[in-house]
Amino acid sequence: MTIGLGLSQRETGILDSIPEPVVIVDNQRAVVAVNTAAGREIGVGYAGRALALSLRHPVALAAVDDVLSRGVSRSVEVTFRTPTQRTYAMLAAPLQSATGTASEGAVLVFHDVTSERRAQQMRADFVANASHELRSPLSAIVGFIETLRGPAKDDAAARARFLDVMAQEAARMTKLVEDLLSLSAIEADKHVAPQGKVEVARLLQRVTEALQGRAEARSVRMSVELRDAVPDVAGDADQLAQVFRNLIENAINYGRPDTDVRVTARAVDRVGETTRSGVAITVEDEGEGIAPDHIPRLTERFYRVDPGRSRKLGGTGLGLAIVKHILNRHRGRLSIASDVGRGSRFTVTLPAA
Ligand SMILES: Nc1ncnc2c1ncn2[C@@H]1O[C@H](COP(=O)(O)OP(=O)(O)OP(=O)(O)O)[C@@H](O)[C@H]1O
Ligand SMILES: [Mg+2]
Repeated sequence: MTIGLGLSQRETGILDSIPEPVVIVDNQRAVVAVNTAAGREIGVGYAGRALALSLRHPVALAAVDDVLSRGVSRSVEVTFRTPTQRTYAMLAAPLQSATGTASEGAVLVFHDVTSERRAQQMRADFVANASHELRSPLSAIVGFIETLRGPAKDDAAARARFLDVMAQEAARMTKLVEDLLSLSAIEADKHVAPQGKVEVARLLQRVTEALQGRAEARSVRMSVELRDAVPDVAGDADQLAQVFRNLIENAINYGRPDTDVRVTARAVDRVGETTRSGVAITVEDEGEGIAPDHIPRLTERFYRVDPGRSRKLGGTGLGLAIVKHILNRHRGRLSIASDVGRGSRFTVTLPAA
């Protein structure tokens, strides 16, 4: 309910209908009226008190003073830290008197910009991360070019070695650019439901065949098992292949040499909280596992438990972010379970076609 000094019931009702916090102060900066949203969201709930008692924010108070003394509108950003951190754009405008001459006070309207600010921050972090990831292989390549032009000019053995490293670094940059493009392509049509029907056995066979060389290089044995009759899933075959390529590649990379990577598929009655039936596909490794506090963050872009190790394996830290985005588009789920020291289990559930 609005609390206001000398407001009519109708005025009170109008203020309360405004979904954003509204505070009215007089020209002594005392609160004259507040609506329900102001009490609930920004903790300014009492009329008759000095504004500074409930809005302890110097920048906001200075802006209100400016409005009161100069009769101009001002807009500033105010961050409240409790109960959770939220940021508001506060617009303060002079309150015109009934005769329209002098200002009687100010009207403050608070617009919640928390999610906009968060999205801006995420974009900025993403650009900073991507630039950093591109810059390190690039500096390595530039360094080797200099060495090849100077000290190693006439050293055939060094030349061959440096060219190898340069090729590796260039391959890393290529993979990063491809992963970034792939992420933005998936995001661009995230609201377009995928067309098509995918046969699970064929899908898993195609992916494991492509990764056979990689598995052999690390002495990892891969197996695919279909428990009972598994229905086809609804989806885009190439994108789903990308999901399982990423998961199985991780299992091979982060598994231990001379162990097994097991892929199993089974029918399930429901996918997530939905009532749709589907298929659960599990990729299980016998690697060193993942500590519980890392698990919720694995699907963040560029998040890696051990960045040095991931880079050495040619990883960019985008694999699981791509998996998550593809699964969102497919209304699928990813769940991760791990026993430190024993291995990890990544389970994907997808709705049946
Ligand atoms: N099966 C696994 N066992 C242990 N750790 C894993 C496993 N899968 C993923 N991780 C951890 O999660 C991190 C993120 O995985 P993700 O696939 O997103 O990136 P990446 O493998 O480092 O690089 P990319 O997949 O882009 O080549 C990895 O760096 C690794 O630390
Ligand atoms: Mg990966």
